[in-house]
Formats: sequence, C-alpha cells, structure tokens
Amino acid sequence: IAARAEPGAPRLRAEAAPAAAERLTVVYGSQTGNARRVAERLARRAEAAGLPVRLLRAGAYPQRELAQERQLVVVVSTQGEGEPPDDARGFVEFLAGRRAPKLPGLRYAVLALGDSSYPQFCAVGRLLDARLAELGASRLAPLGEADVDVEAVAGPWSEQALARAREALQAAAPAAVRAVPLHAVPAPPAHDRDRPFAAAVLANQRIVSRDSAREVRHVELSLEGSGLRYEPGDALGVWPRNPPALVAQWLEALRLDGDEPVAWQGRTLPLAQWLERERELTRLTRGWLAAHASAGRHVGLLRLLRPEHAAELAALLDGHQPVDLLRLHPSPWEAEALVAALRPLTPRLYSIASSPKAVGEEVHLTVAVVDYEAHGARHWGAASSFLAAAAADGDARVPVFVEPNERFRLPADPARDVVMIGPGTGVAPFRAFVQERRETGARGRNWLFFGNRHFAQDFLYQVEWQEALKQGHLHRLDLAFSRDGARTGAQAAGSAPRTYVQQRLREQGRELYAWLQDGAHLYVCGDAARMARDVHAALADIAVAHGGHTPESAQAWLDDLLQQGRYARDVY
Ligand code: 2AM
Repeated sequence: IAARAEPGAPRLRAEAAPAAAERLTVVYGSQTGNARRVAERLARRAEAAGLPVRLLRAGAYPQRELAQERQLVVVVSTQGEGEPPDDARGFVEFLAGRRAPKLPGLRYAVLALGDSSYPQFCAVGRLLDARLAELGASRLAPLGEADVDVEAVAGPWSEQALARAREALQAAAPAAVRAVPLHAVPAPPAHDRDRPFAAAVLANQRIVSRDSAREVRHVELSLEGSGLRYEPGDALGVWPRNPPALVAQWLEALRLDGDEPVAWQGRTLPLAQWLERERELTRLTRGWLAAHASAGRHVGLLRLLRPEHAAELAALLDGHQPVDLLRLHPSPWEAEALVAALRPLTPRLYSIASSPKAVGEEVHLTVAVVDYEAHGARHWGAASSFLAAAAADGDARVPVFVEPNERFRLPADPARDVVMIGPGTGVAPFRAFVQERRETGARGRNWLFFGNRHFAQDFLYQVEWQEALKQGHLHRLDLAFSRDGARTGAQAAGSAPRTYVQQRLREQGRELYAWLQDGAHLYVCGDAARMARDVHAALADIAVAHGGHTPESAQAWLDDLLQQGRYARDVY
C-alpha cells in the first residue's frame, strides 16, 4: 500500500502500478485519523482479497487522474460546521467545482464519517456522493454514514463495498484479480489506536514558573520495545482517564453509587469505572445536552437546540462542561441510561515535541494543564490532568499511539529555510523540527516566532532556544509576550492591544516575504479559532505590503502555498 511517504517503506513504483482499469483506488480525507484508519483497513482487506489497490490521502490525490479512475472508494469525514478535513479541501473543491471531468466510466462508493450531534452530519460525504453521481459515475455501494461510533457502520460498509468492487473488477479485468503475495499485505502495527502502548513516564516537569496563571508541563514517555515510530510533525494519541475527583463530582450531583454494577453492550463494570475510563465527561456536546435536557424535561435547554438559538447554544457548549448542567439543571438519571447516553471516551492528540533522531526511543510532549474554576466548581481537562498526575519513574503508564500527520512535514530538501509560528504550546512541533534539523545537519535556516503571556513566566524551552541560537541551529527568534507591556491605566483596564506573534510577523514582513520568495516553508501550530486566523490575515497583509499583491491575489498566493504544502497548519 503506497500510503505514507515514510523513508524505507515499500512504495509502488510507477511502472509497477496497475492501470486504472485494473485496480481499486481508495482516497481518504481525514482530520483526526479516523477516516485514514478506516481507509487503511479497507485497503488492507482489499489486498488480502487479491485486489490491486492504491491508497492515497485526498491532499496527495493527483486530480488529473480522476478521469481515468474506474473503481474509487472515498472515505471522508466532516468537521463541526460542515467543513471537509484540511487535507481534503482541494479534492472536494475540485470535484464540486466546474472543472471536474465527466465520469461516466467510474464506479464509486463513498463512506462519510461524521458526528450526529452536529446539524451538518456527514455533509462532505453526502456532497461527494451526490456530486459523483451528477458527474455520471455509478455507485458500487450506497453512501455509508458513520457516526462517532465509526466501526459499527464502517466495518459492514467496507465489506459490502469491497465485495462489489471485486465483482466489478473481475468483470472488467479478470486477470487483475489474483491472490496477492503475502509481503504486499503489511501487517497492522503492533500498537495503534485500538491497541495502545503502555508508555512509562521518564520525566514530567512544570516548565512555567510557579506564578504563571496556566500550568504547562514537559512530559517524556518511553517508547522502548513498542515498535512505534514517528516523525517530527506527527501527533501522539493519548488515551486519558477522567480525574477521580471529577467522577466524584458526577456521582454526587447525580446521587448515584459508584459501586453499582452497570451492564452495557455486553460488559459489566462498576459505574465509577465506566465514568473514569470509558465515558467522555469533559466535553459538552449537543447530543449530551439534548439527552440531559430531555431526561429532566428542561424546556429552556431544549429550546436552545433550535436553529434560531445557534449562537446561544454555541456559547453554552463552549463555556460549560457536562457537570455544570448536572448541577445547574439536575435530571433524574439512572446509571444504565447514563452510560448509554454518554459518548465513549476518545483519545486526545498532542503534537509531538521531539525528534527520534535526538531522543531515541522516547517521545516528548508539551502539555497545557486544563484546571480552572468556573460556575462555582473546579473543572479539568481529561488528558492533561491525567498526564499531569502521571508521576515519573513510578508505576504510571500512559496508553499511547502514533497519529501520523503527513501534512506537517519538514521540507524534503534540507537546504530550504523554514519559518515556524507557534505561540503557547503550539511551539511543541517546532522543538521537534529544530532537533531534527540539528541532527540531520540541514543547511536551511530556521526562524521561530513564539508568543506567550509573560517572558519571565511562560517562555517555554527558553534555555533550549538560546542554546540553539548559539550553536547555529536556530537562526532567528522573534518573541511576543502578550501581557508584558507597561502597566498603563489603559492596559490595566484591559483595553491596550496585546502583543501577538502576528505583530512580529508584520514588523518582519519584508524579510519574511523574501524568505518565502526564496522557497521557505511556513508552519503554524496552535489555536485555530483566533491565532491561526489572525496569522493568516497578517500573512496576506505582508504579501500586499511587500509583494505587490492585491488583497485578492494575496489570498490566491497563500492558497497556492497551502496547495504546494509550503504553508502547513497544525491547529486545534
Ligand atoms: P493572551 O492570552 O495574552 O491574549 C499563547 O496562548 C499566547 O497566544 C498568549 O500570549 C496569548 O495571549 C496569545 N494569543 C491570544 N489570542 C491570540 C491571537 N488571536 N493571535 C495570536 N496570539 C494570541
């Protein structure tokens, strides 16, 4: 399977690749890895069944080849507001757009992944399925729609789609369908999302000063013996456990007994264990809100689910955790109904902060600990408090797996310059990048923009950056400490503008533009909602100010950089 650009991984050579008529192409558009996993599994099964198959992520799909495809399976997820995954944006736009070719010779099947607690459930998959039909292609299988419980639909759907693809291939090119030699079917890795590795904790220390308002920790885990491999840019999936104190809050608010055995989907566990290890307690979703409001007949809450109250609902979902609803609007839950209504706990992804070339069989994380008071109660983040509590050199084990991110990679050409923009814990992958460039002796220059609240408290990895500057592994470092400005009356009142990384970008606009003109790659990591959006706007302004662009052509220039993979974002 020619899926990943891993050095050393076997890849189909162009001349060895079967013609389009004789193979099945599987394309996936994945944001958090679910669609990729489903597509990989499907491709693996196809190969085991003797079907020639090629597997591609949507961002790497050569659009020119679409008109030649004969058998196509698309697995694509939908993000919150009905958006495609970043990596699939170009693919979706191409297909949906006017330049898409007619596809009368194509047989296809679309599996849509989504989250039914959002109104735009599976929107992207639905659109692709309808659009392919409109272009004249015919379905191998009806559109599949998988909810958060992905495998329940994905497994049977894949079987069906594969059986149909096999029939179609056999009719079109009987010689192509054969028993494939075993070596072509890569075994699944020993550890993955469903079989995480229990990593020992090697180090776990606070890396902001005591008086910093927000705790950030540097966590080092051992991958020794796991067989897990990663590259700078990848994420580490962490299966958390909810804080016992949070479980206690739930049990108290619900007046339920944690020792009560609860049977659900063939398993019986004490309620407290369901809540600690199996259920999502820290994320408030539409689905949970709806279930909770119905259980307690809270008409006011139920009304919020109507489309005309979307803004109010969004504010509620953003500012509260489920436990707040338990307290503010109690509902009479019974243990089993509760376990059934809550979603399964899902892993959290952390951008990896180390290069294996520098740290060997270890993986380092930069963890912002979510722990705050609100609505009269203490709140926690599941994974960050789990990691924060995992003592180094003890018995603590953290269940982990590697989540590859092919879209966030250092340039293949070591002579290229890189510009890295990573305020807050968004700096994590850039620690990995700088380590990697140091270890490989890359000749290109490295420029880091970092921001945080206070220089004295929150300068993450300060000593390492200074050392890297001194040794010539980091060439430029621009800093934006947002709350270090002179304490004027205006600032104390909160009205003075804060200094953010995008201000530094603008100040360095001429030089930054020159780097990009020279072929530099640009990376942004951190907050998606505000930071990445504002940085994008600053980059467009820079192209106008220093590149002779109009606002429109500046956007086109940035889109082009994104398409080329020279502007990559790892934002959340
Ligand atoms: P603030 O908390 O003082 O507003 C990491 O969180 C850093 O990113 C902090 O210094 C934070 O500043 C800053 N930050 C907040 N909003 C931002 C934005 N829209 N763009 C860039 N940086 C931002």
